Amino acid sequence: MGLRVAQTGFVVLVLLQSCTAYKLVCYYTSWSQYREGDGSCLPDAIDPFLCTHIIYSFANISHDEIDTWEWNDVTLYDTLNTLKSRNPNLKTLLSVGGWNFGSQRFSKIASNTQSRRSFIRSVPPFLRTHGFDGLDLAWLYPGRRDKRHLTTLVKEMKAEFAKEAQAGAEQLLLSAAVSAGKVTIDSGYDVAQMSRYLDFINLLTYDFHGAWRQTTGHHSPLFRGQESANSDRFSNADYAVGYMLRLGAPANKLVMGIPTFGRSFTLASSKTDVGAPVSGPGIPGRFTKEEGTLAYYEICDFLRGATVHRLLGQLVPCATKGNQWVGYEDQESVKSKVQYLRNRQLAGAMVWALDLDDFRGTFCGQNLRFPLTSAVKDALTAA
Ligand SMILES: *[C@@H]1O[C@H](CO)[C@@H](O)[C@H](O)[C@H]1NC(C)=O
Repeated sequence: MGLRVAQTGFVVLVLLQSCTAYKLVCYYTSWSQYREGDGSCLPDAIDPFLCTHIIYSFANISHDEIDTWEWNDVTLYDTLNTLKSRNPNLKTLLSVGGWNFGSQRFSKIASNTQSRRSFIRSVPPFLRTHGFDGLDLAWLYPGRRDKRHLTTLVKEMKAEFAKEAQAGAEQLLLSAAVSAGKVTIDSGYDVAQMSRYLDFINLLTYDFHGAWRQTTGHHSPLFRGQESANSDRFSNADYAVGYMLRLGAPANKLVMGIPTFGRSFTLASSKTDVGAPVSGPGIPGRFTKEEGTLAYYEICDFLRGATVHRLLGQLVPCATKGNQWVGYEDQESVKSKVQYLRNRQLAGAMVWALDLDDFRGTFCGQNLRFPLTSAVKDALTAA
């Protein structure tokens, strides 16, 4: 009897623990090292206790084998993985692919049995050599003819990881970065099959709106909202999450993406509301130097003297100054997102990217490093 009670108590404890252990998956990008001055970010700037998983992006595939991308990747891998000596529970993954890698090369490798085999076999030794705990597949984005090959790649990679773990090491983790756009989801992914073999899915729930629409609009709204008369009903995080779940992604593997960057526009008239005409993307940030994109730390600068609005239905803020308009996330909006993903019992939150947050804590005026990612963490761990 006593034993039964003790056992039940133990089971309850374990269940409680697994219910509250949300993942906080954080991407770090190696090219952030090249931003000038205070924009330059190296992995030793990362608080080892901030995230549960850190994903280093990106690795290359060369001659059908996983390979480094940057000249100093091996050093940076080491710097990143050294964080685990301070937090032994931290997991690190290496992301392979990305936008610059392109879909075609993935397509070629995944569709050819021999190339695929060679790539898969190259992964575990590479990850072990450099101290990673897993692989993240960033095939952006598979097309209609790739669907089947992507599933095969994921399935065989998982089998290789299982086989490799028989030698006694903890099994390598396998995740994938998956588009949140309905059209891409429909054409590129067999969600139910792929989910079987992945440990978790990083849903890229942002970039829903851009200058290509020729109007202002928020790129990462949680909901459609009334303001977005110009946006379709698919272009929001709520729709993407619901759609993935309907297609068979288990909630406990689905990780919802939260951007630490904003998307900006140059206004074409004196109109500043959502749906206002734009002449193009916003002017580049001082550090990130890319049209139409601002890091959160650059947004904190922009906000001085700007007018801020909250898009009530969409639960995100936007700001205007002069002829610039930016849709972004703040501590309040990320909290709503975490509340949402907790209500849907998802696996956790993903942040793109640590180096776009105020990682030095000097821009956003709170003397707090990683203010957005910390707000995500606080909301995930709140009782
Ligand atoms: C990635 O690999 C390809 C194929 O070997 C190579 O052509 C390319 O230069 C590599 N990219 C980088 C950044 O090293």
